[in-house]
Amino acid sequence: MSCRRKFLKRAGYTTVSALLATGFLQKYKQKEDYSTNADRENYASANVTSSLRQLAAAKGKRYGAAISSDFLLKEKDYANLIARECSIVTPNGELKWNATEPQPGQFTFESADAIADFCQKHNIDMHGHTLFWHMGKPDWLPYPPTLKMIEQHVKGVMGHYRNSKVLKSWDIANEIIADNEKETDNATYGLRKGLKPELIRDLFLIAASVDNSKKFYLNDFGIEGATWKSEHFLKMVEYLKNSGVKIDGAGIQSHLWFSTAYSFDEKGFNSVLERLNDLEVKPIITELDIIIDAPLPDSIEKLDQMVADSYKRYLDLCFAAKVDTVITWGLTDRHTWIRHPDWMPGKTFRDNPNLWKFLRPLPFDENFQPKPAHNAIAQAFEQAS
Ligand code: G3I
Repeated sequence: MSCRRKFLKRAGYTTVSALLATGFLQKYKQKEDYSTNADRENYASANVTSSLRQLAAAKGKRYGAAISSDFLLKEKDYANLIARECSIVTPNGELKWNATEPQPGQFTFESADAIADFCQKHNIDMHGHTLFWHMGKPDWLPYPPTLKMIEQHVKGVMGHYRNSKVLKSWDIANEIIADNEKETDNATYGLRKGLKPELIRDLFLIAASVDNSKKFYLNDFGIEGATWKSEHFLKMVEYLKNSGVKIDGAGIQSHLWFSTAYSFDEKGFNSVLERLNDLEVKPIITELDIIIDAPLPDSIEKLDQMVADSYKRYLDLCFAAKVDTVITWGLTDRHTWIRHPDWMPGKTFRDNPNLWKFLRPLPFDENFQPKPAHNAIAQAFEQAS
């Protein structure tokens, strides 16, 4: 068995398609490009003196990152950076089903509680990710789980945080929409194979019966433009609203790829944000990170500038549509999931180790120094109305 297969097996992946991590990241690919307009800011030379959380707060917004309890405990400078920069965090894996209910009915919250304690200490909100997902699940759990299993899980996990002052929101369901029409047996809502809209409705109803004091989100990727997927995501949001279910917001993950080789669907993305606002389902950005796809520039400096430029363009659109929460999927390039060999993005990067240095998707570098991307995010917050 290859290392990749061993890793995925340990990680609990059961389906053949999940094992094929070779195309996995392609699913996150968002057809967007970036501009190299000479008149754009040179983010490298910006002098930002406030933290991102301060700059966000000045506009009534929140900035944060996905974090891991392991790194929090092992790397003091990491913990300090999170405390300084973030007003909201998402546990990277600590609240997923495989972490919280590894055996049926047996719950464990040690690592998620470590994050909650950290949040309490540093006045940081915690975003609960996630109660329902086809990945990050224990081997014993079928997908979709039965309603009884869902009820037991939601009661166990949400119940544990019912009185939490820091955990303020939940991704009730994550990635329930298929990537395209071939991967669904539900033409109306485009749900992943095996899912029924009623099951998702009931999941939201159960969640509300356990703790309706938190904000409830439906979270997904590949919805940052006018796509088959975003259309079906919006239909599903509409269905939940029409069913009278509590749904406060939509989590737009935003694992984005920008490139000069393909175009940026600004209009389509605006329309998704507008339609969510019209439905009174608040869009937030839950997992932002940015890869530059081929053709790659000839230096890291140029690449960093392109990443920064992409952040700025994207966030300007978000803020124009009143998005008030931006969470990046990690804070530093040292910890990005994208550099992990098992998640290495396809085509351009996977088989080209000499290009891995071009994977610099986050605001801080491996040495925790702010990058141009950080300065671009800062500037987007500063310019937001
Ligand atoms: O913590 C163990 C470690 O003890 C062990 O030695 C090691 C063995 O390889 O595995 C470690 O756990 C891994 C964990 O990441 C922490 O690195 C898991 O096996 C691995 O499956 C897990 O992957 C995470 C993945 O979700 C599945 O849960 C990624 O870090 C995480 O970034 C990714 O996050 C998802 C979001 O939840 C949903 N949206 C897409 C996003 C990126 O794929």
